[in-house]
Amino acid sequence: MPRGVRHSDKAKRLVVLQGRSDGAPPRAGVVWLVGAGPGDPELLTVKALRLLQGADVVVHDRLTPPAILALARADTRMIDVGKRKSRHTLPQDDINRLLVALALDGLMVVRLKGGDPFLFGRGGEELAACVAAGVEAHVVPGVTAALAASAGAGAPLTHRGLAQAVTFVTGHAAGDAEPDLDWAALARPNQTTVVYMGLTTAPRIAARLIAEGRAPGTPVVVVENASLPDEHRLSTTLEALGDAVRDMDGPALLIIGEVAALSVALAPARDARQTVVATSERTRA
Ligand SMILES: C[S@@+](CC[C@H](N)C(=O)[O-])C[C@H]1O[C@@H](n2cnc3c(N)ncnc32)[C@H](O)[C@@H]1O
Repeated sequence: MPRGVRHSDKAKRLVVLQGRSDGAPPRAGVVWLVGAGPGDPELLTVKALRLLQGADVVVHDRLTPPAILALARADTRMIDVGKRKSRHTLPQDDINRLLVALALDGLMVVRLKGGDPFLFGRGGEELAACVAAGVEAHVVPGVTAALAASAGAGAPLTHRGLAQAVTFVTGHAAGDAEPDLDWAALARPNQTTVVYMGLTTAPRIAARLIAEGRAPGTPVVVVENASLPDEHRLSTTLEALGDAVRDMDGPALLIIGEVAALSVALAPARDARQTVVATSERTRA
């Protein structure tokens, strides 16, 4: 449990203790929803770094790299809203209430969010909660995982003659359901599809795209832990995707489209980080 903060079982009874400890007069708090980027601390924006170093309290997720959290001041209160036991985060409503309560306590709150807060990050819900409560809130964009994955892999998301458009989609689906996507549109050639949270549903995504007419041999590069020291890239094809990702547990992105083939040729560090899977059999590149 973070210092000074008590979560009750009922979110409405959430109690925040310890406001400003420096004896300064009360002031209005503010919430900054800050994009922390894909993991490499050097991919933080200058603004994110400045805010992190000025925060009274940092509210972060379980996967925020320690090297980024270490950039905050030593006296900054750190609140991890990830629940290790269930591997689920605190319910979103509780996080919203926590941000509002901390700001109403007069604190400068940095809510650190992986990648960009407004891309599959529920930043909109947190901003809406602050606005509804009359709390001043701002958003600082971050480098989204797709950009780091494509840069590391040497696979540009758009490329003359190969991809004139790129679409970011989520592969997440409730329970056993299929992701609710426009498969026919995604199956068209001359474009790149980047799938966030798509490891579990990768076999279904591949099957649907092929059924809608995308070529089974369409190149795919899967990038796990993009920008981090343990980044791993796997080059495969749509038809082999399901088998290829079976042992991966992410966080990972699927980059689907002709540009993915460039990753084998253009990757800046074509080393042990890269695995090429031709069919369902893996071969170290
Ligand atoms: C809830 S979404 C958050 C996305 C985030 N807001 C962003 O802009 O990157 C989490 C998913 O993002 C992707 N992701 C986040 N960080 C990643 C990384 N370093 N490498 C690969 N994928 C990553 C994975 O698909 C992961 O399941």
